[in-house]
Amino acid sequence: MRGPSLSANMKAFPPYLFAELDKRKREELKKGRDVISLAVGDPDLPTPRPVSDFAAREVKKPANHRYPCGRGSERLRKAIAAWHYKRHGLKLDPETEVTVLIGSKEGLAHLPFALLNRGDTALIPDPAYPACKTGVLLSGARVERLPLKEENGFLPDLGAISRFVRRGAKMLFLNYPNNPTGACASAGFYKEAVEFAVKNNLWVAQDAAYSEIYFKKPPPSILSVPGARAAAVEFYSMSKTYCMTGWRLGWLIGNRRAVQALGKLKENMDSGQFNAIQETAVFCLENHAVLAEPIRKTFKRRTEFFAGELKKAGWNLTLPEAAFFVWARPPVRRGSLAAVYEILEKTSVLASPGSGFGASGEGFVRFSLCAPDARIKEAARRIAGMKWQKG
Ligand SMILES: Cc1ncc(COP(=O)(O)O)c(C=O)c1O
Repeated sequence: MRGPSLSANMKAFPPYLFAELDKRKREELKKGRDVISLAVGDPDLPTPRPVSDFAAREVKKPANHRYPCGRGSERLRKAIAAWHYKRHGLKLDPETEVTVLIGSKEGLAHLPFALLNRGDTALIPDPAYPACKTGVLLSGARVERLPLKEENGFLPDLGAISRFVRRGAKMLFLNYPNNPTGACASAGFYKEAVEFAVKNNLWVAQDAAYSEIYFKKPPPSILSVPGARAAAVEFYSMSKTYCMTGWRLGWLIGNRRAVQALGKLKENMDSGQFNAIQETAVFCLENHAVLAEPIRKTFKRRTEFFAGELKKAGWNLTLPEAAFFVWARPPVRRGSLAAVYEILEKTSVLASPGSGFGASGEGFVRFSLCAPDARIKEAARRIAGMKWQKG
């Protein structure tokens, strides 16, 4: 007997592509192979010691043990506003233009519930971090894919979106610095995106989770575009900036109706993040430069090294400008999954198939430089020496 049925909502989630990959990895390990995993975007570096020391003290304070405020403590919202003023020159009202999140993934998945109705369309880049589809599909909205092409610097071609699609669209997702491509967007592109949104009466949700892992100039905020706050919001995260993926803290800033709507939704769904972690976030923001700089330098060194080695070995790629991924096509024509399996079988290096991030990722492989330098060097050496199967 099967018992009661599940919600039809569960059909929104495709079979987990990485499950099969995980199985293959376990098989390799069982054979006694020395597997180097460059598949997951989860920093290997520990959270900086001053941060965990500070948090350990906060955990012991009884005042932090009560329910937090769902949209974030006043102290943290003020610290977030102060940080953005310093970083981007933005003047944010901490009361109405900032909502604290339990990681930016949570916010990306929940925001569509606050903004979309059944039958609306969301424009989602392809390839993309999969969580931005979650809330769209659960809201009963439609997904319209925006291909990110290498020849366009992995930016969507907004001018190519048909009038029909524009008419049904209610929301545009962006993600720069970009996972998986490592591309950045300029202030000029953001201006174009804001104009597109205002003209077509849609929301723009820009995901800046990798904003501080940059290799050249600090990437701009979409909210620096004059008038952006009429339609735009932007997500930020502690996860990559300070190697704090497990701590779960992010925030949304920008258009006050959207930010407050998400805050209201959260008051009704969760009770926000543990106060000790919110206090720790204030500590991180107030000590940003000294904490973030060594992490940024590590990922820059690793990413530039690995991209350079792949290039020398005949891989096709655009050098990443930010984040910690190398997005590349192998020297022979291969589907993404076939390439990943062949690499794993011949070198015991595990990467992610580009097709797992959307149809436009087909043919690409994503390497995540979240392993110690020595392992990354070893992975590059093995891949450079790899003999590809013919055909
Ligand atoms: C593009 C992008 N956005 C958001 C997230 C989620 O980050 P967080 O840990 O803040 O939920 C990730 C995590 O990998 C990501 O790659």
